Amino acid sequence: MSLLAKRSMIKEDKSNIITLGAIAKEKKKQDPTVINATIGMLYDESGKLFTFRSVDRALNELTPDQKYAYASTPGGVEFHEAIKHWIFREYYDEFEKNTFVGVMATPGGSGAISNTFGNYLNENDVVLLPSYMWGNYKQFAYENYAQYVIYELFDENGNFNLEDLYSKMEKVKQQQNRIVLVINDPCQNPTGYTMKDWEWEKLLDKINELSMDQTPIILLHDMAYIDYDYRGLESTRKNIRRYQKMNDSVLVVLAFSGSKTLALYGLRVGAQIAISRNKNNIEEFNRANKFSSRAKWSNTTNLGMNLVTKVLTDSVLRKEFEEELEFSRNTLIQRADMFLSKAKEVGLKTLPFECGFFITIPCENAEEVYKRLVEKKIHIIPMGNVLRVTIASITLKECEVLPKYIKECMEMKG
Ligand SMILES: Cc1ncc(COP(=O)(O)O)c(C=O)c1O
Repeated sequence: MSLLAKRSMIKEDKSNIITLGAIAKEKKKQDPTVINATIGMLYDESGKLFTFRSVDRALNELTPDQKYAYASTPGGVEFHEAIKHWIFREYYDEFEKNTFVGVMATPGGSGAISNTFGNYLNENDVVLLPSYMWGNYKQFAYENYAQYVIYELFDENGNFNLEDLYSKMEKVKQQQNRIVLVINDPCQNPTGYTMKDWEWEKLLDKINELSMDQTPIILLHDMAYIDYDYRGLESTRKNIRRYQKMNDSVLVVLAFSGSKTLALYGLRVGAQIAISRNKNNIEEFNRANKFSSRAKWSNTTNLGMNLVTKVLTDSVLRKEFEEELEFSRNTLIQRADMFLSKAKEVGLKTLPFECGFFITIPCENAEEVYKRLVEKKIHIIPMGNVLRVTIASITLKECEVLPKYIKECMEMKG
């Protein structure tokens, strides 16, 4: 007999990322020559966790109150302003003039996603998720009593599959008279795909078209990796700028991750940033998400929020941070270039990639190939019919040799 409530009986974290990551970590501890390409964190070229010196310096300057006192549930005005300035950059004033914006502190991007699912999906409503995805989305959906429908991420030319998404959006609109859509961009996890400007433009036009009759449309833009786009900070903000033109019944929720932008993975800090042309949408957002946050985690760490605020608002620290960010972005670009050029040499195919922490390889027998690679002391993540390689957690040298080993293991018989 189970003591669990009915809905909880089937709860099981099926994601193998944590489990296989832990195995790889243990193996690497015993033998430093092991290649651990499983972890969703950035490591430097000496194999140590990448940390920002500017963030460390800011940490040392925080007062005990700033570190340890209780925080307010939504986070303070300084944190909200720091986040808005970081996300909107030179378009901050435009957003202030043309839209209403709400910010809710959350424990990482995860909290932002969970809150958004919980407050914008009725029981058994579906959320639209991409065919290659960060698997946690499914768990957030179940935990918030929702279902999901998958849209194809790519068309036959390796572009974003707008057609499939449009048709799923139309269907969902008919079924439940609201659309909640997740877009993970740029540096999509797990593929590294990054939408082109014209793809964004068309998608937003479609959202406006479908919301002309006041259908509620919630676009959850999971921008966890926004600051690792190879095109740099200015370019990604140009896409965000487009949100000023959305209809009144559209709410855009950006899920910001302090884990990725500031490498504060374990500190659990992030935010939901809601944008709408309708004031009421933002008042409701603030009210309902404050309630949910209070009920789920009470408040986000004061230490995390004050640290983010300090780094992003102190002009000296911020300058240093942006330079370090550029360095980390370039590190990823070099690793990706190396991996892709070697993959090309050995004829190893990858899914469409632009930038980011991960590169994904289509592979029908991913589990088997995973086991063969482990025998060669290489750890990656098998995910259904693909293999996910974290280039963020391995060195340039390892990126050079990995494609050959993966190709060999894919071609092995039996
Ligand atoms: C696509 C994506 N979104 C969101 C997150 C959330 O990260 P966190 O909750 O640590 O901010 C992750 C973390 O790996 C991710 O890969």
